[in-house]
Amino acid sequence: MWNQTIQFRTLALTLVIFAVGCTSGDPDEAKDASALRADAHSYANFNDVRVKHISLDLEVDFDKKVLTGSATLDIDNIHNVNLLVLDVRKLSIHGIIDDDGDTAAFALGEESAVFGSPLNITIQPETKSVTVYYTTSPDADALQWLDPIQTLGKEYPFLFSQSQAILARTWVPCQDGPGVKFTYNATIKTDPSLIALMSAENGTTKNTDGVYTFKMEQPISSYLLALTVGDLSFASTGRNSGVYAEPAMLEKAVWELNAMQSMIDSAETLYGPYAWGRYDVVVLPPSFPFGGMENPRLTFATPTIIAGDRSLVALIAHELAHSWSGNLVTNETWNDFWLNEGFTVYFEQRIMEKIFGKPYENMLTKLGMGDLERTLEELESEGKEADTHLYLNLDGRDPDDGLTDVAYEKGRFFLQTVETIVGRERFDVFLKKYFTKNKFKTMDTERFIDYLNTHLMSTEEQKQLNANAWIYGPGLPDNAPTPNSTELDRVETAIAKFNNNRIQADDINTEGYTTHHWLYFLRGLKDLNLQKMKDLDASFQFTETGNCEISCDWFKHCIDQDYIPAFPAMKAFLVNVGRRKFLTPLYTRLAETDKNKKWANAVYQDARPRYHSVAYNTIDNILK
Ligand code: BES
Ligand code: ZN
Repeated sequence: MWNQTIQFRTLALTLVIFAVGCTSGDPDEAKDASALRADAHSYANFNDVRVKHISLDLEVDFDKKVLTGSATLDIDNIHNVNLLVLDVRKLSIHGIIDDDGDTAAFALGEESAVFGSPLNITIQPETKSVTVYYTTSPDADALQWLDPIQTLGKEYPFLFSQSQAILARTWVPCQDGPGVKFTYNATIKTDPSLIALMSAENGTTKNTDGVYTFKMEQPISSYLLALTVGDLSFASTGRNSGVYAEPAMLEKAVWELNAMQSMIDSAETLYGPYAWGRYDVVVLPPSFPFGGMENPRLTFATPTIIAGDRSLVALIAHELAHSWSGNLVTNETWNDFWLNEGFTVYFEQRIMEKIFGKPYENMLTKLGMGDLERTLEELESEGKEADTHLYLNLDGRDPDDGLTDVAYEKGRFFLQTVETIVGRERFDVFLKKYFTKNKFKTMDTERFIDYLNTHLMSTEEQKQLNANAWIYGPGLPDNAPTPNSTELDRVETAIAKFNNNRIQADDINTEGYTTHHWLYFLRGLKDLNLQKMKDLDASFQFTETGNCEISCDWFKHCIDQDYIPAFPAMKAFLVNVGRRKFLTPLYTRLAETDKNKKWANAVYQDARPRYHSVAYNTIDNILK
């Protein structure tokens, strides 16, 4: 990979010089077919030959826990080369043919645990497509195969994929870097008792033959390839939106997500037309390792947002916002990840403000700043200062390492700082144009800053912003905003009194507290002891809350204070919920003492087989 990377760098540079030398160059236009930046996380030779379309024909085998069939890749042989390099990991390749039906020679390169291997396929300059016949491994990292017991209905098995960041290669041989965009279609065969859904045009009911066909006509990056198969029903939530969930969850989910259609409408008012036709959400079983995943046309979501009070729907605003920031204008490499997530958190914030009002949005933003401050402190204390820059250097590392609040929250506050400097009106005009001009293209950090300086900010404003400090510097620059929330100020006053023992849990006035008040409350508690834990639990029933966000924050204190009455509930939580954001802090705290570590290991024995690879790979590291 190293050699290749260097080679690509040289090539990319040559092409850039070439491009600059011979075109007048509209600075508005992002790159399309021209050279992409080298991608340290992909073996693919996408600057020589580029995949334009993928046609999947796969059968779902729940007994063997494999997908088997073929992927046909249509290619644009930009430099008439004789080699197509794809990314694969743990795939068994049965054979490859080209568009003439001739066998294509292939060889797998050396395997890396994180990146997999290059699949080197011999092609001719005139080759238009190759078809790869393959079977996935039962432990393909993208795929989680659930036994019926892990579903709500307990009757049918379930399958879902999670391709971001570099796991698509474990179920589809492809050029697995975010820079490469292609259209796709698919035929998926499964048991007729189940429905298959993809990040594409979907049906709403089961077929009698179990054969489902899909079409994604807009170009997407490989990390947005997605598949789920299970006992799922559909209900509409508006003009172009709806929800898929297990039958027993559907009604609750529809109630919880009733704001979906207005979120879409608000988002369109802000930054231009929704480019993907429908926007649906599938509520997955609780082992889904993330809160949400912005698979185009079909967001994958954790059931932990179905809290019964609509308090966690910002997550849907977030995944929806990715339909612009990320899915339309995509980070060119994982080092530019903040372009996906920072923009999305900013956009999410704007949608939430529009629908739920400024006081609600202020709470979310202040909580976000708290998260960021804790993350920055942690990264700094671990000596990972470079990971607090917006522009990351993840070369040679798992791009998963870049998945911290820095990309999300520092990214958001950077954009909020731009907004403050130029004013909301100008910023909105700029953003709308940015999404329109760059749709279906990729963007990297440097080009974005150029774009910002050319199209939005005066020299004076650029000075005031000091983008370099944000992008290439550590922590939070001096001009970072200080979020304010009168709602949370009220909580702050109460916690201060409770922390100083000037008030009993019982006497705290929590009237009107919502999930976000409670989260702020829990995060602000200090100098706890067992008696205070008991009082808090007796007054507010934290151990028994059905809200996973609250559970997670409460359980952190339970571990720190050794509050044993909560441990059975915590065990049930750890075994049932596979969302990594909750698991990581709990297991990390548990691993701090021998006694708790022993307990955690015993729980993990039961829990690990129920987690997705994304979760168990992280927890393996914590408990090892
Ligand atoms: N795209 C991310 C999830 C992701 C990022 C998966 C990188 C793998 C690698 C998704 O949009 C996301 O950010 N999800 C968050 C929720 C959001 C409200 C912050 C999550 O899962 O917690
Ligand atoms: Zn996101």
